[in-house]
Amino acid sequence: MTDIQSLERDILGAIAAAADEPALEQIRVAALGKKGSISELLKSLGTMSADERKANGPLFNGLRDAVASAIAARKTALGDSALDARLAGETVDVTLPPRPENAGTIHPVSQVFDEITTILADLGFAIAEGPDVEYDDYNFTKLNIPPDHPARQMQDTFYLAEQTDGSRHILRTHTSPVQVRTMLKQKPPIRVVAPGRTYRVDSDATHSPMFHQFELLVIDTDIHLGHLKWTIEEFCKAFFEIENVELRARPSFFPFTEPSVEWDLRCDRSVPGKIVFGQGRDWLELGGSGMVNPRVLAMCGIDPDVYQGFAFGGGIDRLGMLKYGIPDIRSFFESDLRWLRHYGFAALDMPSLDGGLSR
Ligand code: FA5
Repeated sequence: MTDIQSLERDILGAIAAAADEPALEQIRVAALGKKGSISELLKSLGTMSADERKANGPLFNGLRDAVASAIAARKTALGDSALDARLAGETVDVTLPPRPENAGTIHPVSQVFDEITTILADLGFAIAEGPDVEYDDYNFTKLNIPPDHPARQMQDTFYLAEQTDGSRHILRTHTSPVQVRTMLKQKPPIRVVAPGRTYRVDSDATHSPMFHQFELLVIDTDIHLGHLKWTIEEFCKAFFEIENVELRARPSFFPFTEPSVEWDLRCDRSVPGKIVFGQGRDWLELGGSGMVNPRVLAMCGIDPDVYQGFAFGGGIDRLGMLKYGIPDIRSFFESDLRWLRHYGFAALDMPSLDGGLSR
C-alpha cells in the first residue's frame, strides 16, 4: 500500500469513528486546515518537477476530494442523529389530559380583536397592518396635520430619541397611519381593516397609555356617507349580537376627514351596572369617522377627482369593556390571573359568525 493510500485509510477511518461535530472538526483541521497533512502534500506539488507533478497532482487532489466529501457526509449524519436524540428527549405525550388548574384563557383584547376581524372579513375587508413605531410624517403630516398644527395637541404623543438627521420617530397615536401606508402601496378599490396597538400619554379608568384601535378604510369611485353608516350598523349588529341598531351621528372634527362624524349607539343604562344595547334612552360612543379628506388622498398618491372614501377609527379595549362589562381599562394590562380567569375566554373557542362570536 502506498503512503497516500494508507494516509487516506487512516483519515477516512478517523472520520467514520468521530463521535461528534467537535471531534470531526479536529480531524478536518488536521487534514485540510492551513497546516493539515493533505494541505502540506498539495503545497509540496510546487517544489516538484513537471513529471512528478503530473503523477502526484491527481493523487493528492483525489485524496483531498475524498476526505472533504467523507467529512461532509459524516457531518450530516452526526447532525441528524443529534437532532433525533434531542427530539426523542423532548417528546411530549399529547394524549395526556390537560390539568384544569393550568388551563390558559384568551385575553378579552385578543377576543375582541378576533371578533372585529371576523365580522369585517365577512363584510369583505382585508386586514392591513403597520408598525407601532411610526414616522411623524405618516402619523401626522400625510394625515393633513402639518408640524405646529394645533390638532397635534389632540393626541399626547410619545416621541423617540432624535435621529442623526434631527427627525424623531414616534409611537403611533392612532391606527390612522395605516390608512397612509395602505394608500401609498395599493391603488383603489381599497377595503381594509387595521387593528393594532396605539399609544398616548394618558392614564385613568377609561384611558390607557397603550391601548388598541381598529381602523376602517374604504376607497372607490362612488363611496358616500351612506356606505359608512351601513357598515357601522352591520358591524354593531354583529358585534353586540343584537337585531335592532339605532345610530346617532354627531358632527365632529378630524383633520384627515371632511366631513367628520362621530357615531353613538342607542343603549339602556337605567339599571346600575347593566347595559342593554339597541334600546333605551342612553347613547354609547363608538368612534370617529368621516369621508377621507381629499388633501389626504392627494398626499397619498390617489386622485381626489376620481376617488373618494370613508374612514372609521374605534377603540378595541373600550368596545371590550362595554360588551363584557369590564369597568377599568387598566385591569386589561395588570396580568392578574384571577382577572384573566374571570374575564378570559376558552382557548379553543374561535369566534365565528355561524358558531357565535362570544360563547
Ligand atoms: C382617533 O384616534 C382617530 N384616528 C379616529 C378616526 C379614524 C377618525 C378615521 C376619523 C377617521 P380618537 O382620538 O377619538 O380618534 O380615538 C378613537 C377611539 O380610540 C376613541 O373613541 C376611544 O375609544 C379610543 N381611545 C382614545 N384614546 C384612548 C386611550 N388613551 N385609552 C383607551 N382608548 C382610547
